Amino acid sequence: MSTFSFAQKDAPLFDNFHQYSRREIAAFHTPGHRGGRGCEGLFRRLGGDLLALDLTELKGANLEQDPDFLLRAAEKLAAEAFGAAHSYFLVNGASSGVVTAFLALKGKGSTVLVARNAHVSVLNGLVLSGLKPIFLSPTWVEGLPCLPAAETVAKALAAHPQVAGVFVTNPGYHGIYGPLDAIATLCQARKVPLVVDEAHGGHLRYIDPAIPEASRVGADLWVWGLHKLMGSLTQTGVLHLGSTVFSREAVEEALTLVSSTSPSYLLLSSLDSARRQLYFHGREMFTQAAGLGSFLRRSCGDRPRLKILTAAHLPPGYGLDPTKVVVSLTAAGWSGLDAEEILRRKYGVQAEYADRDYLYFFISYAQKKQEVTALGEALLALAATPG
Ligand SMILES: Cc1ncc(COP(=O)(O)O)c(C=O)c1O
Repeated sequence: MSTFSFAQKDAPLFDNFHQYSRREIAAFHTPGHRGGRGCEGLFRRLGGDLLALDLTELKGANLEQDPDFLLRAAEKLAAEAFGAAHSYFLVNGASSGVVTAFLALKGKGSTVLVARNAHVSVLNGLVLSGLKPIFLSPTWVEGLPCLPAAETVAKALAAHPQVAGVFVTNPGYHGIYGPLDAIATLCQARKVPLVVDEAHGGHLRYIDPAIPEASRVGADLWVWGLHKLMGSLTQTGVLHLGSTVFSREAVEEALTLVSSTSPSYLLLSSLDSARRQLYFHGREMFTQAAGLGSFLRRSCGDRPRLKILTAAHLPPGYGLDPTKVVVSLTAAGWSGLDAEEILRRKYGVQAEYADRDYLYFFISYAQKKQEVTALGEALLALAATPG
């Protein structure tokens, strides 16, 4: 955040729908539960006031202007806050942003360079767009697939100069990010659009503004999974447009193909509210989360039977998100999958994910320190118990 924008104090969509939901209005529209009144008892009690925000497009709530007036105002503030030319709120996950990106790329050619370290939504985007992929090999770090090296992209661009674009995923699920700046320079030199699945990024700017995120390197289109770590409700995301390489019309047309005509204004409100929180508090939120990640690394690091991924494992040009902690207990005889199960059953700890070799823990700004301490103790206990 370079210059302060007073307008960021507003959350136009959230604030107006909140006010609207408090008005005494006889509703004769969807949804039928009438502000929660008609929900089943326990659900109604748990949902409380939030259920009144479960609305969709409404003329009255939208200041009686065009039905998308408040949504566009909220997205404009998001674009300003996050460094995009335009931002689009997503209520069907980052997945829908990824598929939209492929549908937009379809207008640019018939083949696309795709980094193999990809989420399943990338494959879905390829299927739905009909684009033919030319896959780029990832850089492997300790057995984890990461952003391809710039040389890999350079060779592929030289061999296939007519591609519709380059699609990469960075950072990965494991928090390792790569030389996106060098890849962007290559794409810009060849005038090839760069699209980034940054579902696990976005918050890195609040930890270190020098980290090469999509907005900083001049990507043309990129996707955020805001719900993953940045404070909005599950299923929300943002698709960012960075340049005029893709027209707004093309992106908006592609978006309608994967979007509901009744988007949840509860989910959209959570995006608007999360943007406001990030704008004013993002730095302290993620300094806190990064600090807890470092605390966990310090508490458990450098043990013969317990490996925690650190910057020392990475090749030059790659970095590690301090809020993602990737742990291996294979030297103690535990597969990631078995360790995940015992952590959950015996120690009351739930990891984000596990595979054969690793456990993946996401540290949030809203995490309690005693939870991180308990996780560290559980990991050390497992390391001391042969699996
Ligand atoms: C790299 C990556 N991209 C996209 C997605 C899709 O995100 P969502 O679950 O919000 O649809 C995920 C989900 O885990 C992911 O890991």
